[in-house]
Amino acid sequence: MDKPLIVVNFKTYESASGQSAEDLAASMEKFTNRNFRMIAVVSAFDLHSIASNSTNLEVWSQHLDPVGKGSYTGWLEPESAIYRGAVGTIINHAEHKVSIKHVKELMEMLPSDFPICACAADVSEAIELAKLNPTFIAVEPPELIGGDISVTTADPSIVTDTVKAVKSVNSNVRVLCGAGVKNGSDVRKAIELGAEGVLLASGVTKAEDVNAVLDDLSS
Ligand code: G3P
Repeated sequence: MDKPLIVVNFKTYESASGQSAEDLAASMEKFTNRNFRMIAVVSAFDLHSIASNSTNLEVWSQHLDPVGKGSYTGWLEPESAIYRGAVGTIINHAEHKVSIKHVKELMEMLPSDFPICACAADVSEAIELAKLNPTFIAVEPPELIGGDISVTTADPSIVTDTVKAVKSVNSNVRVLCGAGVKNGSDVRKAIELGAEGVLLASGVTKAEDVNAVLDDLSS
């Protein structure tokens, strides 16, 4: 059985940007020897510095565009992200929605062993994304993102229903859940509900004691 994932999305939180992003990644690195696969999902601006200073911590991009080298001002071109150290990406986050076509075209460009985690707001979106065969689908009810109550408590059935629906479409796809995840108990509940890990942000980025939170999450 693969290790469950703890995926921390740095977003553009001040506490997870620039030097603070490097510090947060260094804290995460300290917990990579636990029984979880630790992943930092960082801004494109911070990708290179964090990836080049990380040993066991996986560093992913927060978004990529299905474009090649050329006339694509401001787009996040995958080959350059990989060159700068990205070893995975999330896509279609609730705060950065894209079309199914975008996800499909991006996947066609990425190396087959490059993990992609497609985010879904609900079961029906998860089903559509599962047909594309992404490595992971993370179900995150948008109304719970950034809140105090974990999806695993507020809406456990969306996790179980998404796992069931995704596996019935494509048993290769691994399901994560997120929104409001804050502690080790939420992680354990996610796994009990059938998820293979969690995607979280504010529980770590807004923590007063980041190391204590990472310790709890990965215990
Ligand atoms: O990408 C993870 C995110 O959307 C969940 O955010 O702050 O509820 O953990 P948060």
